[in-house]
Amino acid sequence: MNEKTESRKSLPFFGVPKLFPYVKQYGPHLMKMVFFGLMGSVIDVILPLFQRYALNHYVGERTLDTLAIFVVLYVSAIVFSAVMNFFATYKASCVEVWIDRDLRNLAFDHLQTLSFSYFNQNSVGYIHSRVMSDTSRIGVLFAWSLIDAVWHLSYLVGAVAVMLVVNTRLALLVMLILPLVSVLFSVFQTKLIRVNRRVREINSKITGNFNEGITGARTIKTLAIEDKMDKDFVEDTAEMRRTSVRAARLRGLFSATMSFASSLALAIVLWKGGVIAESEVGTFTMFMSYAQGMMEPVRWLIDAISDLITTQVNIERLTRLLETKSDVTDTPEVIERYGDSFEPKKENWEELRGDIEFDDVSFQYPDGDEMVLEHFDLKIPFGSNIAIVGETGAGKSTLVNLVCRFYEPTEGRVLIDGRDARERSQLWLHSAIGYVLQTPHLFSGTVRENLLYGNPNATEEQIGRALELVSATEVVQRLENGLDTDVGEGGDLLSTGEKQLLSFARAILADPKILVLDEATSSVDTMTEQKIQRAIDTIVHGRTSIVIAHRLSTVQNADCILVVKNGRIVERGTHRELLALGGYYKQLYTRQYEDEATQTVLA
Ligand SMILES: Nc1ncnc2c1ncn2[C@@H]1O[C@H](COP(=O)(O)OP(=O)(O)OP(=O)(O)O)[C@@H](O)[C@H]1O
Ligand SMILES: [Mg+2]
Repeated sequence: MNEKTESRKSLPFFGVPKLFPYVKQYGPHLMKMVFFGLMGSVIDVILPLFQRYALNHYVGERTLDTLAIFVVLYVSAIVFSAVMNFFATYKASCVEVWIDRDLRNLAFDHLQTLSFSYFNQNSVGYIHSRVMSDTSRIGVLFAWSLIDAVWHLSYLVGAVAVMLVVNTRLALLVMLILPLVSVLFSVFQTKLIRVNRRVREINSKITGNFNEGITGARTIKTLAIEDKMDKDFVEDTAEMRRTSVRAARLRGLFSATMSFASSLALAIVLWKGGVIAESEVGTFTMFMSYAQGMMEPVRWLIDAISDLITTQVNIERLTRLLETKSDVTDTPEVIERYGDSFEPKKENWEELRGDIEFDDVSFQYPDGDEMVLEHFDLKIPFGSNIAIVGETGAGKSTLVNLVCRFYEPTEGRVLIDGRDARERSQLWLHSAIGYVLQTPHLFSGTVRENLLYGNPNATEEQIGRALELVSATEVVQRLENGLDTDVGEGGDLLSTGEKQLLSFARAILADPKILVLDEATSSVDTMTEQKIQRAIDTIVHGRTSIVIAHRLSTVQNADCILVVKNGRIVERGTHRELLALGGYYKQLYTRQYEDEATQTVLA
């Protein structure tokens, strides 16, 4: 069974049927396109017959008797062919952009439903090319390759048929060179593909190095490695030049061979067709036209096959993305009751209170190799203000990832308001959570637009109050256009601290029942941090909050501090209790306190 699937995989057209479900709605358009293409092709096959008649009749027999009808017919045929080709081309362009658009939308929608782990395992660049370039290659394949196939193959078949009917012996002789030409073309094709692939590889290496040279400019200068970077770059471009020259030489040879092959076909016609030339000069030129015209379809066919083979990769990758199932999904029953991300049934949503409980949770990241949490239990009653501290890698972010259901426990349950989080929809939970990250993300647009993502209906007054609460009023005032300042792609025109403040304000505007701050204030100065600390103390009322912080001074007011080490809570209690305990927390605290004191003295 397995072997069978394997061998089927290696067939060049294996991927195409996989796409049928996504493109089947274009069936009628594709049929029309094929019809127009066929009509155009019929005329292309007929045109040499017109020439044949003209030469045999008007030149050979020296008469002009049917000239008027001939001209009318000839011109009509040309006009008809032009119109048919126009429609075929137009349809192909439409189908191409439609498929492109639909596949992109589909892929993008699907990406929205995937869980965090997918984005951890696949780089932005990888996903970007799935959504952008794979889709466009597939669009081209379905639209243009199909219409090209219709044009070329029907011409080939038509030309061969006419030749066979007119002069079978000569037709067979001309066709003799087809296998020879095919072999020659394939050989070149294989070589060309190889060298072109190499050109692309070097090209992306050069682009990569170039990007690193620019984005890492500061690091390069501080490491004083300009010389090495430059040498690498020069080496790469030199190889690029060598390979490109080789590719150009191959292409030159290829087209020379092409002309040689058509000359060969012509030579056969000249040599053997000399006999008919004496009586019927028209038939002779007709053969010349077909013999030359046949080369293009053969070349195309070989091109198309290799194209189809390379497009397999695009098809495979895109369908794999579309078929990827999210690690975190809502069951059909949940979707039935609560709706999904695109069509939520808010009327069925229960109000979320904010009780959180870990019940014997063990957890391992999908691509991790060891358990981060083992048999972990924790109750966070609604309205409490919890702080989580511990050294890097202890599992703090993992805990909140599980609360937010960005990941699901490998074993055990996370309960929200007493019920397994999986019993209700992700959107239901996410709508009630405000999450401010250490690496905050803003969307391109203005400051105001970004704040409104938190609550689209927020009034100017609410926005002002939220900014005030997180001490961001001055920050916004300092910006050139205040609330209407453009923040750049990903908020890159602002400093990290400013981004943190704004994403904090955005979270507050949403008025969440559960507020999660993961190192949310690590990039603001101590003064601002103190102000935010006071803000946190006021806004945590009436909601459950989880604050992760490295700087222990910021969590002293928490109702309960959990000290985490290796995925386990080693101590818990208020700041005072933990200091009195004299354990790990006290150790951390004194070390930080001393560090800060030293720094103050030094300053
Ligand atoms: N996406 C991931 N895939 C695999 N392993 C991960 C992933 N994220 C974190 N880990 C691992 O899980 C463990 C806990 O990581 P976590 O991010 O929870 O630590 P943390 O306490 O938040 O650390 P920090 O203070 O540096 O933010 C670490 O050993 C880390 O290597
Ligand atoms: Mg973390």
